[in-house]
Amino acid sequence: MTDPVLDAFRRREYPDVPEVHFDSASYGLIPRVTVEAVTSLTARRNRPGGIPDPEPGAALRRARGAAARLLGADPAEISLVPNTTFGLHIGVALVAAGPPGVVVVSQGEFPANVLPWLALRDRGFEVRVVPLAGDVPDEARLMREARSEEVRAVSVSAVQYASGFRVDLGRLGRACGEGGTLLVVDAIQALGTVPLRPAELGVDVLATGAQKWLLGPWGAGFAWVAPRHRTRIPPPVVSWLSVEGGGGYSTRDGYALEFLGDGRRFEPATLGVQDYLGMAESLEALLDLGVDRIRAHQQSLQGRVSAWARGRGVKIVGPSHPDARAGILSLALEDAPGAQRALAGAGIRAAVREGWLRLAPHLYVGEGEVERALAVLDGVVSGS
Ligand SMILES: Cc1ncc(COP(=O)(O)O)c(C=O)c1O
Repeated sequence: MTDPVLDAFRRREYPDVPEVHFDSASYGLIPRVTVEAVTSLTARRNRPGGIPDPEPGAALRRARGAAARLLGADPAEISLVPNTTFGLHIGVALVAAGPPGVVVVSQGEFPANVLPWLALRDRGFEVRVVPLAGDVPDEARLMREARSEEVRAVSVSAVQYASGFRVDLGRLGRACGEGGTLLVVDAIQALGTVPLRPAELGVDVLATGAQKWLLGPWGAGFAWVAPRHRTRIPPPVVSWLSVEGGGGYSTRDGYALEFLGDGRRFEPATLGVQDYLGMAESLEALLDLGVDRIRAHQQSLQGRVSAWARGRGVKIVGPSHPDARAGILSLALEDAPGAQRALAGAGIRAAVREGWLRLAPHLYVGEGEVERALAVLDGVVSGS
């Protein structure tokens, strides 16, 4: 069903997108309002007095505020970070501050959520990479691990980048709670497509970049750290702006290493203000539309793709239940790269991951575009 609110948004914010974008799991398309805000700030910087002194700080506060609204959190709980990796490292630092033990991740995770953990091996930690169950993470095994006494942390992507599988964070969070195990979540493939309130799910650290489903610029993201952990560790990167009185330029007396008590504690010094302004604009636009509305739209598009796949005998990767999925739907086609090329020839951008064709449409993809893509895939499937 076409949603008139999303239709109007698409016409206003994406008036001249040259290709059909089924690749939001790589990067999202930036709404016009965001492009204009980022461009204006950048252009005004070159003019004398073009940027009043309070403006950069206000942009960063807006970004923290919008991120907090998305997570149902307080702005003081948000740290602006340049990418998911930086945020995950806060989780790594928390774990590293405790006694050595086991860290659990799943096979099939994006490397950003595996490599920082592997680096802990040098400090005496064991990193257990749990094999997949079929094409997706073995949730039962992850929960058993989470309850085990020797396990210090479980780190997962809320939504897997290739299969699109959505982990049941509520159940995993409860298992982690029972085991006294930290739950670290890479949320980049989930936020903007499904509701996610980390405090209610027992998450300890959440990290994301804004360049995918949040429709923000590259190099802007945020982390959320459960308030009970915030002051337990010094920040992994020590920033002159993360200490009491930081950002006051008039004096350099004292060099006191007193870290701030809120989320700014973990921020990495001077930030790309224009990019966080862009992130704020995009997040506010998404929040105004409502994640539920976006989810309903994606489920409707996915319903159409699923019906097509069933009709053509094409395997959909992962469980078919809509709750086990967010914005990504991957198809196990015989020749996924060939399908990707055929789509590209028709002006449709999609990705291949783990040998699957990954379809990741966002609010700027309508029903007509899904029909266009399926018509191309029809040709691919009937030709194979
Ligand atoms: C699950 C997942 N995590 C992280 C990233 C990116 O990590 P970062 O934001 O640190 O570059 C991606 C994709 O680029 C991803 O799919």
